Amino acid sequence: MYTNKPNSSRRAAITVPALRQRKVDGAKIAMLTCYDASFAAHFDAAGVDAVLVGDSLGMVIQGQTSTLPVTLDHMVYHTLAVSRGLQAPLLIADMPFMSYRDIPTALASASRLFAEGGAAMVKLEGAGWVLDVITALSERDIPVCAHLGLTPQSVHKLGGYRVQGKLADEAKRLLDDAHAVVEAGAELLVLECVPAELAARITNQVSIPTIGIGAGADCDGQVLVLYDMLGITPGRRPRFSKNFLQGRDSIDAALVAYVEAVHGSTFPGPEHTF
Ligand code: KIV
Repeated sequence: MYTNKPNSSRRAAITVPALRQRKVDGAKIAMLTCYDASFAAHFDAAGVDAVLVGDSLGMVIQGQTSTLPVTLDHMVYHTLAVSRGLQAPLLIADMPFMSYRDIPTALASASRLFAEGGAAMVKLEGAGWVLDVITALSERDIPVCAHLGLTPQSVHKLGGYRVQGKLADEAKRLLDDAHAVVEAGAELLVLECVPAELAARITNQVSIPTIGIGAGADCDGQVLVLYDMLGITPGRRPRFSKNFLQGRDSIDAALVAYVEAVHGSTFPGPEHTF
């Protein structure tokens, strides 16, 4: 059996085809963000399926007001740190702002996240001109996670961090974009801050797994920002998040509770949904 990484975990490594099979089987996918090796080491025992080194690190690690100042060097640094602690879960790295602005830049950026950082998939935001980038990456066997709905790198154009797809024309565009990213070659689709009914429609229509954050319970999986679900992000907790550490006595217990809630479809509840 070929393996690309030593795995002393008792769990089989979660691969891209394995995630696709989860959708076929109707088995939910539990994903969390992670930024360092120590936390990553706890994710395996807790049963987390996929880990995202999100450019949210700009806000929760660096204390910035948006994800825009995050650089490719920052992403490579944190992805490498996470990959050293991680075993079975699939490792996904965010492509930061402007690191995929054209195809040559995107190929060079993704190469660094894979070769230097140890990522197994990259995530990038949007559709439109991004579709050609998704195709270029996927044709070169770099698995891509698309990200639609609230796309934080577009915060200035969107005018803030708001739910997307509430109006009929916006909803239609999101549905069309979801089909387009699949057609372009994406293997996974994050839907952020989208009405639950629209996210369910997209999930039912596309062949790849959808991962919701503020997108209701019918997505094929869920992702939360680690520091939000541990209740340590300064300021107000986003409505779609839940503090899984509250009432529990350890980070391990919080991680297990999150995984069980996602796998058992008890999170998100209606109070976390738009
Ligand atoms: O950067 C990030 O953490 C993300 C998640 C919120 C999906 O993109």
